[in-house]
Amino acid sequence: MTADIIDGKAFAATVRGKVAERVARLKEENGIVPGLAVVLVGEDPASQVYVRSKGKMTVEVGMNSYEHKLDVDTAEADLLALIDKLNNDPSVHGILVQLPLPGHLNEDLVINSIDPAKDVDGFHISNVGLLGTGQKSMVPCTPLGSLMMLRDYHGSLSGMNAVVIGRSNIVGKPMAQLLLGDSCTVTIAHSRTKDLAEVVGRADIVVAAVGRPEMVPGEWIKEGATVIDVGINRIERDGKKVLVGDVDFASASKVAGAITPVPGGVGPMTIACLLANTVTACCRANGLAEPEGLTA
Ligand code: GUN
Repeated sequence: MTADIIDGKAFAATVRGKVAERVARLKEENGIVPGLAVVLVGEDPASQVYVRSKGKMTVEVGMNSYEHKLDVDTAEADLLALIDKLNNDPSVHGILVQLPLPGHLNEDLVINSIDPAKDVDGFHISNVGLLGTGQKSMVPCTPLGSLMMLRDYHGSLSGMNAVVIGRSNIVGKPMAQLLLGDSCTVTIAHSRTKDLAEVVGRADIVVAAVGRPEMVPGEWIKEGATVIDVGINRIERDGKKVLVGDVDFASASKVAGAITPVPGGVGPMTIACLLANTVTACCRANGLAEPEGLTA
């Protein structure tokens, strides 16, 4: 069997198109331009690349992008003061503080100082609680993008066995909540899980989010299962630097029914969902209709 390839790059372009449509209507009908503020502390090269790319795509869908670049040794009080200013700025509908933060800054404190209604990452404790209790919330972008692809491929996920490998607050835990919300039977596996191969082998849906290159081999995967590979790992192969996922694509694509590639799978969906969350936050802030199909 050769797996269907779930094309995240194409799907992300469709999502951005829907965002752009809603943004255009907000401008025409309501005179509102959604705005996304991104805060970067320090000069981590990978973070700089992400922030630049977020800013570019924000502008491409017609929204305002506000970038705040702070020194690596910025005092916590100054960062909190900036967040307070953005919380109270009506032209800012979404706020994202790029992680990881330098070690002297308390990440939980900083994230929880963002107005939950503007927390387009869905990391604020209020949004975590709302998602966990099945209430309307801001949903973390990578799990939201993964869910959109699963729904698009399968229609209903009801009754499917889903295994999420990885228990991070950013991906694993919210992904499990979303799958539960769509009536999957959900297992969260992690580094201490016994007989991971057997656990993965029972899954109709496998979401791999551990950050270990190609750790899931095709032989673990049940024939016909759907594989969402969240991993983006830089490795060297045959003297070249390449990107690989947490799943061994070569062997997995021979047994899975469908699989997301790396690159071109989950990655592009993450930024598309950030834009989707920003337009959703803007609609909610103004009591206007939310875009359809862009929320959980
Ligand atoms: N750093 C890596 N991924 C993310 C993300 O999704 N959100 C934020 N805020 N920082 C990140």
